[in-house]
Amino acid sequence: MDSLVRALAGILGDDRVDVEGARVSAASHDESDMAPVQPRALVRPRHTEDVAAVVRACRDAGVPLTARGGGTSLEGSSVPSPGAIVVDLSGLSRVIEASVEERLAVVEAGVIFDRLNDRLRPTGLFFPPTPGGSADAATIGGMVATDAGGLFAVRYGGTRRWVRGLTVVTGDGQVLRTGSRLPKTSIGVDLTQVFVGSEGTLGIVTEVTLGLCPVPEARQRAAWTFDGLGTACACVADLLLAVPDLAAVEVVDRGTVDLVRTGADAAGAPEGDLLLIEVHGREAECASALVAARDIATSFGGRAVDGTTDPWDLRHRLTRAVRESAHPAGVVRTDAAIPLPRLAAFVAAAQQRAAARGRRLHVFGHAGLGILHFLAPLAGTGAWPADEARAWKVGLCVEAARQGGAVSGEHGVGLGNREAYLATAGAMLPYLRALKAVFDPAGILNPGKIL
Ligand code: LAC
Ligand code: ZN
Repeated sequence: MDSLVRALAGILGDDRVDVEGARVSAASHDESDMAPVQPRALVRPRHTEDVAAVVRACRDAGVPLTARGGGTSLEGSSVPSPGAIVVDLSGLSRVIEASVEERLAVVEAGVIFDRLNDRLRPTGLFFPPTPGGSADAATIGGMVATDAGGLFAVRYGGTRRWVRGLTVVTGDGQVLRTGSRLPKTSIGVDLTQVFVGSEGTLGIVTEVTLGLCPVPEARQRAAWTFDGLGTACACVADLLLAVPDLAAVEVVDRGTVDLVRTGADAAGAPEGDLLLIEVHGREAECASALVAARDIATSFGGRAVDGTTDPWDLRHRLTRAVRESAHPAGVVRTDAAIPLPRLAAFVAAAQQRAAARGRRLHVFGHAGLGILHFLAPLAGTGAWPADEARAWKVGLCVEAARQGGAVSGEHGVGLGNREAYLATAGAMLPYLRALKAVFDPAGILNPGKIL
């Protein structure tokens, strides 16, 4: 056993430090298809002070740390940096407080998104960002680290909008408490928002004060199919203008719908490129919103979906289904953000280029936000050679940024979006590197991610 591991066992106890076994192997990867990296050890702190002591020991030894929540990152944010100690925060799983009066919850970083909303149900409040396909595993700390979005960000924004304050351990082992309990303050530079989205590279978030939202009285859904995903995307801007109660606006291309139309579901599943919406509000508002939405969808050639399969159920299965179809090589994915007026043309061009090369391309996502997931499978029918797919990804993300969007809308930079991010960050880079050095002078926090 090396001396750092002995020191960590001295801080946390032997049973909270692993150097091999199932936990350590599981922590070598996340839900991206980045190459796994075996960590030097995995530690399981119980509270903020444990995390601070672990960081100080690693700083003194010059050894990197990678914080880990549910391990659901899709861009490698939680793949261990080479030689890193993984700090598994799943043991910090207490909901410390839920205040109805203040519409807030104070939670530890390891609380799972679905479990938090289960706990909040009796209060009539909820934490809205809903990560697609991983709500049952993603932790609040991980969502803060990547500023996670999801299905309902059209109406409620991403994670950032709800974070009022944080407890963070910096790279020199200091415990900072940022922000306040209030939804609005004016106290100069807001460090809370500096840590949101920093993917464990500036500090390790251990506690989060979250604003909460009243659960809407009613939720109603509708779906249409189109001929062409570009056409489905083309009506989104009009929908958003005419229907202010929209909570979710999702699209799924025909080929991806077909991929999940299997088994008992197949006959009742929709045929065509799919547009799904959900509206939140009072019953009567939702009903009139759906009428307005129907008029717009129909005017763009949309056909109402009336099959027996719930299209939202299909939607939740897409990420894992596409990944399974590309087993064992996996997929190269993007979650580029594209300004709405350019979305339809962007999608059509990407689909045409893939078709011209004979490659299978899956496209789905949060059209209401201009955030689409383009997935290139590396195995199965129409598989992409890995190098070609990676180069294509960088090109697509850089183009999205060039058009006024961003290389990532919600999954973060991690490892997978790093090349495109560095190519587009321009004059911000030296400032971002200087900021990293302020909070993490020894460069031990999740090095190699983002920057
Ligand atoms: C989704 C995840 C992949 O939208 O972001 O399904
Ligand atoms: Zn998504």
